[in-house]
Amino acid sequence: MIIFGGSAGETLAVRVSLLTGAKLGKVKRQRFPDGEQYLKIEEDIKGQEVVFIHPLGGRPDELIMEYMLTMDAFKSASPKTISVVIPYFAYARQDARFHPGEALSFHLVAKLLEQAGASKIYTIDVHLQRVPSLKEVFKIPAINLTAVPQIAEYINRVFQPKNPIIIGPDDESEQWAKVAAAKIKTDYAVLQKTRFSSTEVKVKVKAGEGVNVKGRDAIIIDDIISTGNTIVEAANLVRKAGARKIYVGCTHPVLSLNALPLMYSNGIEGVVGTDTFAGPISFVSVAPVIAEALKKK
Ligand code: R5P
Repeated sequence: MIIFGGSAGETLAVRVSLLTGAKLGKVKRQRFPDGEQYLKIEEDIKGQEVVFIHPLGGRPDELIMEYMLTMDAFKSASPKTISVVIPYFAYARQDARFHPGEALSFHLVAKLLEQAGASKIYTIDVHLQRVPSLKEVFKIPAINLTAVPQIAEYINRVFQPKNPIIIGPDDESEQWAKVAAAKIKTDYAVLQKTRFSSTEVKVKVKAGEGVNVKGRDAIIIDDIISTGNTIVEAANLVRKAGARKIYVGCTHPVLSLNALPLMYSNGIEGVVGTDTFAGPISFVSVAPVIAEALKKK
């Protein structure tokens, strides 16, 4: 097995190569004077099992083009298989045509990744909301890994919450909230979110349900923190309901606009994310999660 990191996945690729003992492949990446990307694989990969680790965070359009060029270069060199690891799957949130005339981004990007020649795809805590399974967007084997147990373990060990309860801020977050709750052996509650725009949400307690947070530390778990508005809404709700301290964990700390100061200035005590989207709160690495999955293949 030989591992290559895309330009946003180099550190992660080094970590996975150390954990698996697999060789790290070299790639030459340059820009032509007109801004176009140039790419060359500098390894003999003929007959080899290639793994390409390529998160799509931060500059997704450019990274998708880099992915296409890298896959073309791989295919020209006759590897046995090409497994791609997309730790952060950009465009997954536009998983429906909410209004007539909109592009169906998730499905389109999935098709591009697959048709570029991948044999198998791994991703991590991809935003599965209206699309319930990756089988609906991929024909090749597609595996959705999770980093939620590692995030819950970090929060428990580092923040040391007292009598914790896990909070999912919206319906789709139940899939992550229940994993976190099982990891730290506690209960969870799921709130109800209404989204009005990409920056406006409202979170409330579900009709007929309470939220048992009085005197307890609340740990809000979600897949993505983008603007931070979902987290702040959920935090304000649980504080009003009597929560003591509030901690937050997510897999993909996208942190758009002023998300981090917004959360801290709203009284959140600690926030942690992973290196699927490397940044200031990427305290948990997904490298062991990827390495384990690759060892199983
Ligand atoms: C979508 O619903 C996701 O699960 C997250 O809740 C969402 O991406 C968070 O976005 P924001 O931080 O902008 O509220």
